[in-house]
Amino acid sequence: MSKIKWPGSVLLAPVPPVLVTCGEVASENILTVGWTGVLNTKPPMTYISLRPSRLSYEIIAKTREFTINLSTVELVKAVDFCGVRSGREMNKFEMMALASIPGDTVKCPMLAASPLSMECRVKEIIPLGTHDLFMAEILAVHVEDALIDESGKLHLDKANLLAYVHGEYFGLGEKVGSFGYSVRKKKKRYTQFGKK
Ligand SMILES: Cc1cc2nc3c(=O)[nH]c(=O)nc-3n(C[C@H](O)[C@H](O)[C@H](O)COP(=O)(O)O)c2cc1C
Repeated sequence: MSKIKWPGSVLLAPVPPVLVTCGEVASENILTVGWTGVLNTKPPMTYISLRPSRLSYEIIAKTREFTINLSTVELVKAVDFCGVRSGREMNKFEMMALASIPGDTVKCPMLAASPLSMECRVKEIIPLGTHDLFMAEILAVHVEDALIDESGKLHLDKANLLAYVHGEYFGLGEKVGSFGYSVRKKKKRYTQFGKK
């Protein structure tokens, strides 16, 4: 495979275009965030990187709380809209007919239509350049009950999650493997002729 060298740039893909809520009931806001990810397992830590010009930046820097709501193919229009319009101009919940539910651990609301919401508390704000990184602990996770089977297993693959790839939105494709499958021993199969 031959490759062309470009200067360093943020071409990591796919990333999850999550909907982040912040503020309290009268001042609640929502924005789309692509610069997010997992930082640590225990304690569960995540981050969002925000430009200081965002209304949400001001709110979260003050309240130090937000929720991350995973987005789905059904939510793609709201994901795009909340990423190109500011809460300074309008109430994006109303404009996109997005219902919110009260936070349980934090004061800001969660997005009702998201299959999985994480309540986060900011631990540290790290200025990086264009964006500041809000490092946060995930205090609680709220999962749509229909995605949990009788044995308590979560089937997040059934949530129709959305991916963002270099300016475009995609649904997830077919399953092509699972954690550790490459080294898992195949179960021995027996046929009428013996072991196969
Ligand atoms: C797919 C997508 C991803 C985005 N990711 C980020 C991000 O990681 N950080 C950020 O500051 N803005 C990001 N934005 C832009 C903000 O969501 C946008 O500026 C929004 O209008 C800010 O809203 P607010 O002023 O109400 O906070 C993204 C927009 C889109 C469409």
